[in-house]
Amino acid sequence: MPNPTEKNRYQHRKEEHLSLAQKYWRNQKHDNTAGFGDLRLIPNSLPEISLDEVDLSVQLLNHRFEKPFFIEAMTGGFVRGDKINAQLAEIAKNQHLAMAVGSQTIALKFPELAAGFRKVRETNPDGFILANIGASHGLEDAKRAVDMIQANALEVHINVIQELAMKAEEGDRSFYWLDNINEIAGKLDVPVIVKEVGFGMSQQTFKQLEKTAVSAINIGGRGGTNFAWIEEQRSNDFSLYLDEQGFTAVESLLEAKFSSSTKPLIATGGIQYASQIVKSLVLGASLVSSAGFILSNLLENGPEFVEMLLENWELDIRKFYTMQGAKNLTELQQSKLILQDNLLDFYKQRNIKIEQNFS
Ligand SMILES: Cc1cc2nc3c(=O)[nH]c(=O)nc-3n(C[C@H](O)[C@H](O)[C@H](O)COP(=O)(O)O)c2cc1C
Repeated sequence: MPNPTEKNRYQHRKEEHLSLAQKYWRNQKHDNTAGFGDLRLIPNSLPEISLDEVDLSVQLLNHRFEKPFFIEAMTGGFVRGDKINAQLAEIAKNQHLAMAVGSQTIALKFPELAAGFRKVRETNPDGFILANIGASHGLEDAKRAVDMIQANALEVHINVIQELAMKAEEGDRSFYWLDNINEIAGKLDVPVIVKEVGFGMSQQTFKQLEKTAVSAINIGGRGGTNFAWIEEQRSNDFSLYLDEQGFTAVESLLEAKFSSSTKPLIATGGIQYASQIVKSLVLGASLVSSAGFILSNLLENGPEFVEMLLENWELDIRKFYTMQGAKNLTELQQSKLILQDNLLDFYKQRNIKIEQNFS
């Protein structure tokens, strides 16, 4: 029998995630927290290309994405979250972008809350929509989450640090997830993506996931939305000092590059500018997604402003491809990069061999 107090607690937690993420993005400086400032593209003054020759499309997850970025998982399952999801779904439809819904655990537990998630599919019937659950859910829940919104793919989020930052009565304390992830990925009808929620991934994680049936990995780097900070604010407990924990998107992509991972990569974590999307692609990501920055702009400036931002991203990415003389993703990924000292140090300590394309 569903417990109304438990439902209220869930919804309240989701409310707090929204308002604290908004507060975080309003108050923090994010200029180089995500690490993209430590990388520079090498200029190409005679690129021998015109802007309209650039093809931004990406083939991934049995789908052709028109643009190399999408709206990442955030919310759903309570009035304000459902309204935000409906707005994001409208934006995704207008902009031809994929979109992930936030964790559907709440609607798996309380099925009357599924209507808000379904609204995303109703708003954007032909769009590429990603379902989202945590890694402790089994195959049956994964199927229900996908069916709920006729999802084109499923994101399974892994969030050890966030869970441990929560109070004992709220957060998980046991993390045997790998077999579960493999079973879901092997048996579900749609592609499965494993995603971090903002603490990045190391070579070891890529090696572990390499052996599974997952279709792609979202490295979910630190430097954008900070769930350690959010959970600390919620519990008013700052003892588990987490400010230095995790790898940025840049560091995580470098780790992936040298872990011999063959899984396609998606990059998230502090993305605000087209240049960061382009650098992520150069570092090996096939797609890039953004959450907190889009949310904060939606809440502060409204949906039309977000659409303008996303239109600018597309145009600006096209300009960066042109500057690099790249007609498509394969050509862009031949671009060379300059690494600042701290990344060189990271390379050294992680025993990463500097390849030719980092000069
Ligand atoms: C308000 C909010 C709620 C989120 N909820 C979820 C979630 O339910 N499931 C999930 O996989 N990620 C969730 N995320 C994490 C994002 O998908 C993303 O991985 C993370 O915020 C890092 O990206 P960013 O720096 O662009 O925000 C949430 C993010 C925000 C801002």
